Amino acid sequence: MCGIFGCILKEGNAAPVIHQALKRLEYRGYDSVGEATIHEGKLYIKKDSGKIDEVHKIHNLDDLPGKIGIGHTRWATHGAPLQVNAHPHLDCAGQIAVVHNGIIENFAELRLELENKGHVFVSKTDTEVLAHLIEEALKSNPFLNLADAVLDAVRKVEGSYAIAVISPKEPNKIICARNESPLVLGLSDSALYCASDIPAFLPLTNKTVIIEDGELAILSSEGFEIRKISDSSLVVREPKIVDWTPEMAVKQGYPHFMLKEIHEQPACLRNTLRLQEHYLDLMATFLDRAKEVFLVACGTSYHACLAASYMFSKLAYLATYPVIASEFMEQHGKSVNIDSTILAVSQSGETADTIAAVNVARQRAATVLGLTNVIGSTLTRISRVYISQQSGPEIGVAATKTFTSQLSVLAQLALRLAKKRGKISQDEMDFIEAKLKKLPDIVETVITTQEEKVKAIAKKYKDSKVFFFLGRGISTATAYEGRLKLMEIAYVPSIAFPAGESKHGPISLVEEGFPVVFVCPKDDTHKTAIGNIMEMKARGASIIAVIEEGDEEVKRLADDYVEIPKGVPDVLSPIPFVIPLQLLAYHMAVEKGYDPDKPRNLAKSVTVK
Ligand code: AGP
Repeated sequence: MCGIFGCILKEGNAAPVIHQALKRLEYRGYDSVGEATIHEGKLYIKKDSGKIDEVHKIHNLDDLPGKIGIGHTRWATHGAPLQVNAHPHLDCAGQIAVVHNGIIENFAELRLELENKGHVFVSKTDTEVLAHLIEEALKSNPFLNLADAVLDAVRKVEGSYAIAVISPKEPNKIICARNESPLVLGLSDSALYCASDIPAFLPLTNKTVIIEDGELAILSSEGFEIRKISDSSLVVREPKIVDWTPEMAVKQGYPHFMLKEIHEQPACLRNTLRLQEHYLDLMATFLDRAKEVFLVACGTSYHACLAASYMFSKLAYLATYPVIASEFMEQHGKSVNIDSTILAVSQSGETADTIAAVNVARQRAATVLGLTNVIGSTLTRISRVYISQQSGPEIGVAATKTFTSQLSVLAQLALRLAKKRGKISQDEMDFIEAKLKKLPDIVETVITTQEEKVKAIAKKYKDSKVFFFLGRGISTATAYEGRLKLMEIAYVPSIAFPAGESKHGPISLVEEGFPVVFVCPKDDTHKTAIGNIMEMKARGASIIAVIEEGDEEVKRLADDYVEIPKGVPDVLSPIPFVIPLQLLAYHMAVEKGYDPDKPRNLAKSVTVK
């Protein structure tokens, strides 16, 4: 997730306005920043890796001439955070500047085509292809105006984008376009703005026009025009006045970042389906050659590893060992060797326990692979191969969207490995891939249809002193994650374990009204899970079940239930089945008067051992 911004002023300098707007978009990404302006027919550009204040101190982002410009604050997905990869990106002649938020899926083939036509690329980003596509369009038809050249370019692009383009060829225009990534215009008497998000210009105007998917907007000193990308037809849209405070705007109207990020999961899951094939294949190759594979992480990322161990086993027939990073040295330090492979999973890429475990493995010549949300983090620097989970910055301390993104990436890895090992037929592969592609919509449905139910459950059980979270098979990982969420933000003591373990001790805790959350998809464990539910009911437990919609058998046994749309394969079930548990923790915390974004005693990234 990155932040883009553009402005055309009637009077004054655009650079300071861009700089301040990027500061207000910093929560969308902050590993690099850049600006470009036009003045007297010339393009001026400043960009570098680093946080906005760091780059400003070195380059002075306010010091660019011109009343028109664009800017970008980056959360790297393609290409490490280096100056060369910072936006804006230029064409060969340095006459077209582009800023972009999103992921261009077909950038590799577009880049090859353009290189074969003589275009020279300088960065590793997907975005740069846009600048050269626009340049190519103008070269092939000199009578084309900038807007039509941008139309020509975006029609060749597959994937998500919100872009803003300027060029000295048409020095008083900004062309912006959108597909999936957010884009909004701000209108005032003295200026026109385009941005990824309202906070960028809210202190300057609250008059906004939302740009929808598949639309392009032309901003000029005379005003703005919106066209459909498909057929260039004109779109008329009335401005809307927003009455948000800047604080609310940064949370897009949500009361807390955590709720915003829970609701962002469908969009994040769509982005995880745009991974770079090359890195997925490379990782699968390393896993295929490994004699033993350890999945190493902490907290929520460990729960993703636990779920992944079921995916790798069920799909690729590969035994993997999920290990809590802080125990890795004691548990496996001596046995790790050149034939071992460590797949370290860490949203921040900086968790001290995980990095320490990885360094132990590296000292023993093991192969280290990394899955992280932060390109440029320590984990990316010490991994042989890494892959980004592409979730965008997660501000809430509790991991939510990064968990489901990690699961989606790990499922794709398991599928790719299964294919490489010949353990899965093409039909099975296609079936699961098709289901994976449907997950963003399924998660959307769970959020929109079940949140009110979960809110009521949180209210009903808000005084419960302890919760059980149980699951069988891969749902054990989902249960563990639900337990962690409720503990860390609602401070409710919670216990989670494989449901089959109940009778080996924990069931002695159960008393009348004891809330037991069962994660109970209709998979191979369904029958035995029902047996566990009945065990608990017999001792007076209150059963809260997360079930597949229409599961009448469990509905009859449950005191409360939340339904997940049918047809999710068991290996993918943690992704939709965790959503009600995230919402339960969030609404329970709010019900109890706590701030879900800032839970006591916790930090977003635990960089101490
Ligand atoms: C989960 O909600 C917590 N924020 C915490 O357990 C977190 O998952 C853990 O500290 C690991 O962080 P990482 O993914 O950045 O390594």
